[in-house]
Amino acid sequence: MSFPLHRPRRLRATPALRRLTAEVRVHPADLVLPMFVREGLSEPQPISAMPGVTHHSIDSLKATVHEAADAGVGAVMLFGVPTSQDAVGSGATRPDGVLNRALGELSREFGDDVVLMSDLCLDEFTDHGHCGVLDEHGAVDNDATLQIYGRMGVAQAEAGARVVSPSGMMDGQVAHIRGALDAAGFTETAILAYSAKYASAFYGPFREAVQSALQGDRRTYQMDAANRREAIHETQLDLDEGADMVMVKPAMSYLDILRDVAEMSTVPVAAYQISGEYAMIEAAAANGWIDREAAIDESVLGIKRAGADLILTYWATEVARRLKG
Ligand code: PBG
Repeated sequence: MSFPLHRPRRLRATPALRRLTAEVRVHPADLVLPMFVREGLSEPQPISAMPGVTHHSIDSLKATVHEAADAGVGAVMLFGVPTSQDAVGSGATRPDGVLNRALGELSREFGDDVVLMSDLCLDEFTDHGHCGVLDEHGAVDNDATLQIYGRMGVAQAEAGARVVSPSGMMDGQVAHIRGALDAAGFTETAILAYSAKYASAFYGPFREAVQSALQGDRRTYQMDAANRREAIHETQLDLDEGADMVMVKPAMSYLDILRDVAEMSTVPVAAYQISGEYAMIEAAAANGWIDREAAIDESVLGIKRAGADLILTYWATEVARRLKG
C-alpha cells in the first residue's frame, strides 16, 4: 500500500486553514469606487444596464462617498455627465462644468480623508462622443486633444482632485498633463494613467451610463484586443512620461496583460473591472444562474491575484463591507 507523499488537500480541509494559507487577500483599501455625477439631477437615477449603479445628484454623490469611506474603500473615481455637449467638450475645462463642480463639493466635504480621483477624458463632454477633438476629416486629433487635456487636468486639480486619470489613450497625454499641472503649481497632483486600455465590447453599459453620443468606435486610439507586447510598450511610455500609477482596462478578458504589466511596472498597478463585467454577473445572478456574492468576490480576487494593486469596481463598497465582516 503506497500513500501519496504530497497531499495539497491537507491545507484545504477547514475554512480556518484555507484562510491561513491564502496567497493573496483583497483589502478594502485596494478598492476604488467609480461614480457618475449627472448635471441637474435632484434625485439619483438608476442606470438600467448596470443594476445597482446610479447617476448621482450632488447630494446622493456625497452620501455614497460617505458609505464608501465608512466601508474603508481606498478611493473614488468620478465621472461627469453634463446636460449639454459641444464639439470641443468645453464642459470639461470650465470650473462650473459638472465634474469640476462635483470635485469641488467632495473636496470641501471630505478634504484629505478620501482620495479623490477624476476621469480625464472628453468623451462625456463632446457631442460626437469621442475621447478627443476631431480634425477637418473627422479623425481624432491627438495633439489638439492634448492641449485640452492639459487644461482639463488643471481644472480638476484646482477643483480638488488628488489624482487625475487620463483615459483617452492619446499619445503623449501623461507627459503633457504632467507639464500642465506642474506649470500651474500642481506638482503634488498625481496621475493614474490608463496605459493599456483596450477597445472593448464590454464598455457597452458604461456608454449608456454616460449617454454617449459615440457613432462608430474608438479603435483608432484604444488598443487592439490581440496585442500583448504593445501593452508593455504603452505602459513603459507612460512610466517614462511620469505616470504615478498605471492601469489595465478592462480586467477580466485581459488578466494576462495585467500580469505582464504588474511584472514590469515600477509603480502601483490598477485594473478596472468595467461595466460589462459588472452587468454580466448581475444579469446572471438576477436570473438565478450564479451565486451573486461568490461570483463577485471571486472576480475581484482573480484580478488581485493577476497582479492588481488597485481594483476599480462598481462593487467596491459592497466588497469592502464583506471584507470587514
Ligand atoms: C472613456 C471611458 C470608458 C470607460 C470609462 N471611461 C470606455 C469607453 O467608453 O471607451 C469605461 C468604464 C466602464 O465600462 O465601466 N473615457
